[in-house]
Amino acid sequence: MVNVALIGCGTMGRTHANSYKNINNANLIGVCDINMEKAQSIAKISGSHVYLKFEEMLENENIDVVDICIPTYMHKEYALTSMEARKHVFCEKPIALTLKDANEMVRFSEKMSVKFTVGHVVRYFPAYKRAVDAVGQGEIGIPKLIRTTRNQGFPKWSWEGWYMDYEKSGGPILDLIIHDFDWINYYFGDVERVYAQSLNGKAKEQDHCVATLRLKNGAIAHVEGSWAYPEGSVFRTTFEVVGTNGQIEFDSLKSCGIEKQINNGHHITSYLSPTAHSMEPYQAELREFINCVEADTKVSVSGSEAVKALQVALAAIESSLTGRPVTLKNYIH
Ligand SMILES: NC(=O)c1ccc[n+]([C@@H]2O[C@H](COP(=O)([O-])OP(=O)(O)OC[C@H]3O[C@@H](n4cnc5c(N)ncnc54)[C@H](O)[C@@H]3O)[C@@H](O)[C@H]2O)c1
Repeated sequence: MVNVALIGCGTMGRTHANSYKNINNANLIGVCDINMEKAQSIAKISGSHVYLKFEEMLENENIDVVDICIPTYMHKEYALTSMEARKHVFCEKPIALTLKDANEMVRFSEKMSVKFTVGHVVRYFPAYKRAVDAVGQGEIGIPKLIRTTRNQGFPKWSWEGWYMDYEKSGGPILDLIIHDFDWINYYFGDVERVYAQSLNGKAKEQDHCVATLRLKNGAIAHVEGSWAYPEGSVFRTTFEVVGTNGQIEFDSLKSCGIEKQINNGHHITSYLSPTAHSMEPYQAELREFINCVEADTKVSVSGSEAVKALQVALAAIESSLTGRPVTLKNYIH
């Protein structure tokens, strides 16, 4: 059994706590938030102990894994404190706001010999997984163009409105489409050059960005992210991958989960569509990390890969501010 302590009981804290309920070898023993009500409401999910102070939770509980679900600008501080105490760390994405901080987190996890992963969950979304499997099996030939979109309204709901402060969240390029940067970087090839345009938060409570990536293997990607949609809009993602022999596309608004059940006389056999609950991506990424801690195996999403995604996002921000393409240097770790 792997004992987990979670810090940050907001949107992602709740998502993670609900996921642990379905992970048999994980025990959410403690949850921490500066807001007692939020912590208590999450603690009810698994009967966890409640803490207002992280250090107290660290001292009082027998913790194997710290799960970091607090705002991005605090990731480094709590990751380093956890690693110092020799805890394995699951950190929500993005890893950090700067390459310096991100590299420090990766280096420190190595120094302390603890496992460290970052929540690049798009890799676990069934449709995204199916697409890369299809590409891997040569179903559409060699990918030449990847187009992704990730759109929502302006994130006003967060604790103290921290998403709206770009010094704390990095804005939609760093917070939102880093998901797609990781997916593209990891599965389709390293990014060589980035050109981006963005409203850069200049329009009141609206932001939108478009980034063009050239990959080292010659393919190109078009990544679009928006915090400009009307309040209450349904979160929507799409992708399109065009290869030398064909094309795959996905639209989250057009896809729905289908569960087919057949009575074989003794019990019910389920055939699950790619979007069925049991393939819930947050659960899948956490389960994989818990298994990896239990079995002492290599993590699937390494800290270094998270640094690479951050590097693309920072290059896109730089390009959007300067109006010039940015060629990525070798990231230092
Ligand atoms: N993987 C994904 O799909 C995904 C989606 C949304 C957010 N995120 C990431 O998850 C992280 C958290 O985002 P969120 O949307 O859950 O934020 P949120 O605003 O909903 O919640 C943040 C919580 O942290 C608590 N908090 C603040 N300071 C604290 C401290 N010092 N100690 C304990 N608790 C503290 C707040 O009270 C709040 O409950 C961010 O890094 C964000 O980018 C990832």
